[in-house]
Amino acid sequence: MSVHPASTLLLVSGSVRRGTVNSAALATAASTLPGGWQATMYSGLADLPHFSPDLDTDGGPRPVLDLRAAIRNADALLFSTPEYAGTLPGAFKNLLEWTIGDTVMTGKPVAWLNPSTAPRRAAGTYQALRTVLAYTAARIVEDACLDVPVERGQIGADGVVTHPDVRRRIGGSVRALTASAPNGR
Ligand SMILES: Cc1cc2nc3c(=O)[nH]c(=O)nc-3n(C[C@H](O)[C@H](O)[C@H](O)COP(=O)(O)O)c2cc1C
Repeated sequence: MSVHPASTLLLVSGSVRRGTVNSAALATAASTLPGGWQATMYSGLADLPHFSPDLDTDGGPRPVLDLRAAIRNADALLFSTPEYAGTLPGAFKNLLEWTIGDTVMTGKPVAWLNPSTAPRRAAGTYQALRTVLAYTAARIVEDACLDVPVERGQIGADGVVTHPDVRRRIGGSVRALTASAPNGR
């Protein structure tokens, strides 16, 4: 009997703060994965060096190699990021810059959750994310991109959102993203 290896959803949060809402949204996504999928939360954001073409050589810095390997091994990526000063956090933009000079993102199914509760719904950061992703040649799965406001009070002690409607909506996004992946189920 042949056993298919699980497909991998890579979760990438644009926030490095403790108790981050964006990481909680992604952890919630992980808790709604369909069968045949596993989730990996990328945790190296704060360790990446500032992007420089001078460092972007064969070999390259270990954190960059690890980032690219995580993306290469993923069947789909899900992002969630805060807005800082009207656009992407510098640390997260830096991560994306490290993916531009490589082909790891080419054709990769990607989507995002937007958990912002701000009146302008962090529109600037998600517009910027769309712009930068276009340079990576990732495939944005529009049906999986979701505005889903998450209040800090909705995050349980386990770091996952408990509100049933929020969970249902995030689960719908995850299903749309995973179903669009080449080995989607
Ligand atoms: C320096 C700074 C700048 C911010 N700028 C914006 C902004 O331009 N627009 C916005 O909606 N929120 C802004 N915020 C609020 C954060 O986006 C908000 O706290 C977000 O929920 C943080 O997500 P996290 O909990 O995942 O870190 C800013 C926060 C900080 C600390």
